[in-house]
Formats: sequence, C-alpha cells, structure tokens
Amino acid sequence: MRRSHYLASAVLLAALVLFPGCSRPEVLTGDFTLVSPLPRELFTGEKETPFVISSQTVVCYPEGDESLRVAAGLLASQLQQITGCKVKTTTRLPERNRILLGVNPEMGTGLKDFQASECYALDVETSAVTILGGSATGVLHGIQTLIKALPVPESPGNNRLALPACTLLDYPEFPYRAFMLDCGRHFFSADYIKSLIDILALHNLNYFHWHLTEDQGWRLEIKKYPRLTEFGSYRPGTSYDSSGVLDSIPVSGFYTQEQAREIVRYAAERGITVIPEIDLPGHTQAALAAYPELGCTGGPYEVATRYGVLDDVLCVGKDATMTFVKDVLEEVMDIFPSPYIHLGGDECPKVRWKQCPDCQRKIRELGLKGNGVKTEEELLQSWFTSEMEAFLAEHGRRMICWNDVLCDWGNQVVGEPSKQTVIAGWMRPVSTEIAVREGYDAILCPIDYCYFSNASVNKITGLESIRRVYDLPVAPEGLTRGQQRHILGIEACIWTERVADTDSLEWRLLPRLSTLAEIQWSDPARHDLDAYLPRLRHMLDLYDARGWHWKTDIAQIWE
Ligand code: ACM
Ligand code: ZN
Repeated sequence: MRRSHYLASAVLLAALVLFPGCSRPEVLTGDFTLVSPLPRELFTGEKETPFVISSQTVVCYPEGDESLRVAAGLLASQLQQITGCKVKTTTRLPERNRILLGVNPEMGTGLKDFQASECYALDVETSAVTILGGSATGVLHGIQTLIKALPVPESPGNNRLALPACTLLDYPEFPYRAFMLDCGRHFFSADYIKSLIDILALHNLNYFHWHLTEDQGWRLEIKKYPRLTEFGSYRPGTSYDSSGVLDSIPVSGFYTQEQAREIVRYAAERGITVIPEIDLPGHTQAALAAYPELGCTGGPYEVATRYGVLDDVLCVGKDATMTFVKDVLEEVMDIFPSPYIHLGGDECPKVRWKQCPDCQRKIRELGLKGNGVKTEEELLQSWFTSEMEAFLAEHGRRMICWNDVLCDWGNQVVGEPSKQTVIAGWMRPVSTEIAVREGYDAILCPIDYCYFSNASVNKITGLESIRRVYDLPVAPEGLTRGQQRHILGIEACIWTERVADTDSLEWRLLPRLSTLAEIQWSDPARHDLDAYLPRLRHMLDLYDARGWHWKTDIAQIWE
C-alpha cells in the first residue's frame, strides 16, 4: 500500500471511530412521479431540500381523533419497518421533523361527494409533511402515497430515506373500487385475508368483496344454522374432470363470526369496506348438504366435489327457504356494516324449479306469466331477488347481484330485479351497458378484462396482460354521459377453482391489481400505458420488499 493510501485509510478509520454517523448509509430520496395510481395534481418543489425520516420524526394527529390515531400508528410502524428509525406518534405539534395528519371536510368543495370524502392533499417541506384529507379515508390514501413515494431500499431497517418537496392533490375517479376473492372453492386463512387487505389498501381500493359461499364450501359461521359450517365447509377432495375421480386433497375451513368481525375492523382501519357475498339461490349445494329440506327434491345432497353450474339450488317455493335466507342475512348484516350486501344470483339453473310442486305453486300464487325469453322460472328468480332487495333495504342496505338476474350471455333481458339492485356486469362489458340502459346502477367486472383467474385473461402474458386490463372501456361509448354516471366503478375477481394457495393467488393478482387501480382511481383523460410503466416497475420493487409474489413474465418489458 502506498503511503498516501495509508494516510487516507487512517483518516477514514479515525472518522468512523470518532463520528459513527459517518458509517450510516447515504440519504436516498424518493420520487412522487413513481406513485401509482397516478395522482391528479403534483407540483414538485425543486428549491426546497427533502424531508429526511429519522428517529426524530414524529407522526402527529389531533387529540381525540380515534381514526387518525390509528392511521398515525399504521404510518409510524411502516416507516419504522422500512427505515429502522423509531418513529413515534403524538398529539403535540413540534416545529420540525413532523408528519401531520388532519381532516378538513371543506377541502373537497366542488368535487363529487365521494371524491370530497376520499380526497387528500399532501405537502412536503424540509421540516414538515402535512397530509390533509376530506375525511380520515382521504388521509389513509395520502399515507399510502407517502409510502409509495419513498425509495425501496435493498433491505428493511437502517435506511436513511427522504421525501422530495412537493404539493399534491388527489381524489378518485370511481366511488366503487373493488376486488373479489372466492373463498368457497378454496379456503384462505383469516390471517391471510388481512395480508390481502394490506395489498388492496396499497392500491387505494375501497371495497373487498368476500365471496363466502359456494357449492363446494360454506365458509361463514351462522349461529342459527350451525350445520352450514359443521357439514357445509368440508369436502373430501376435488374432481377436476368428468371422471368424478377425486384428488383426495380435502378442502375445509370457515371463518368464525369473531374472525369475520376482526377482518371487518382491520379493513376499516385501512379504508376498506368488506362486502360479504352470500350467493343465492344458485351455487348453494353446500348449504343443501347441511339442510336438505331447503332443496326442491329434499336430497340427499353432498358438498360439491366438482366445479361448474350445478342443478340443485335453493327451493324458493318453500316458506322455510325464505325464513332461512332472512335469518342468515340478519346475522350477516350484524357482522358486516357494509352499505352493500352481495347476494350473487348467478348461474341458477331452473331444471329443479320446473319439476318442483312448491316452486310451481309459488309461480301460480304470484300469477307469474312467462313471455318469450322471460320464462316463469326466470320471473320466479326475479321475485325472489326483489324480495331480498326489499328485505335488505328495510335494514338500510343495498343489494348487489351478478348480471344473471337481469340479462344472459345472449344479451337478452331475462329478469326484472327491482331497480334499486346494483348489477355487477361480468358477462363482458356489454352486460354492464345493458344494466345501465335498463335503469340500474352497475359495476364493471367483465370476465374478459377483470377475471384475473380465468384463462381468457391469464393466457396472455407480459405487457399484453397489463394492456388487457388497462384497455377496459371505463366509459362505454354506447352510453350517454348521464348514463355513464350510473357505472359506480370497477372490480376484479379471482375465482379459486384452480387457485389453492396464496402464492398462486398473488401470482394472478399482481401486478394486474396495480393496473386495475390505475383505471379505478386515475383521470381517464390521462390514461397512457407507456407513462404508466415506470410506475408499474416501482410497484414491483414494493411487492418484492413486502414478500408478495407477482407474475414474473411482466419483467420482459424491461429486458
Ligand atoms: C360468475 O362468474 N359466475 C359471477
Ligand atoms: Zn322448489
């Protein structure tokens, strides 16, 4: 070693001993232009130096505000996890190093009501960060933006991170931004559902649609009908073809009411409402296995071991069935405070109803007269659906149903659900358009864009899989501007016939959930796939940092 190198090393060593701070990593500054979904308005403050997160940083919230106290705790613990710095929460207001959370109900004046409540403003200066929301939910979105603007360090802990100066104003495009998971075909633990809620929250979604009942498994404890979970939550195996041979992998599990309430609470703290789905009157073979007297033939039935559309459905001609359904819904509404309750209504074959004396008597009693495509049995389902809609409305809730209650694959209007029903259009985008034209509020969840589990979407890889979601026509041209306003939002779905574990679930979900979030949240006038790709790349880094699995073929884009 040359003498000058000796000298340099000695000085460096002395510096490290005398000033241990020198060994700390350099400050990495984040970038708000990488935040996805794309915020509405962003002004970067080039002159100010960044806000550095350190162990002096505190998250401040107004005294007595319980929602913001919880939000402050969530932010502090995330910052601590990423940076290794102990970030405290407080109701005091220090001069410097503070991240202040607050609500200002006036700030959304001029926006639509839902936008005013979900909007937020985020301001970063050298000495302080301020997140103001139109409500606590807006503040939660602001927190997610702050987290997404931070750099993603190689490993958690001992990182010096900073936020660049900026002013940002943001609010969503659609009031309904949802993701659905089918927990009937396969069961996912209550703890995992919480992790999934974390994933949804990072993407600014506000509804988790929880599909809880299926032919293959009933997954929610109902105290008045214990056999639903005692018998209805277990199947000995699954047959994946017409042979009927089972794979001998038993599938079981259900959520206790206590677990479901805990998930509702956990989600609410993160700005997400849980919408339960009790699928009725089809897809109910597990319920029939538990209570065969509720079927048209009286059974016996077994929890289904094969997939598809099955003929045995609830007998809606029997008063006992109506009592059962209302009892179940009373318990469901008690657990889930959601303004929406999803009652399915999809894929309900009418073969049993056609043969059933009770169903036929009911048709006569109600004076239902079929006309062309609207058969008497279709109208019987419309009567059932409308009874349920009225029952939920009496309890202050709004019913969502799949578009089957209104129209079929041939785009024929086959049903007459009451006009307050929200129609979830899954049979391609046209089903949502039909619903809106028929005078309903509707949700876009078309199979060809939004069913992340299905081959029609999943066979496409790399950029094309992203483009498919991005290209969903969110404002169908066939509808007037006024009609378009009846599209409440967009939902993606994962059905779990072939999704048995969390890795394959996340592989289907990510990163397309990020693309979904872009079209649910951002201004459609600014949709631009190329401009989105750097934001998508940043999301992949965030997924890696959190240990979430994503479908790696997307990385082709950057190769
Ligand atoms: C559905 O995919 N059966 C709603
Ligand atoms: Zn019947």
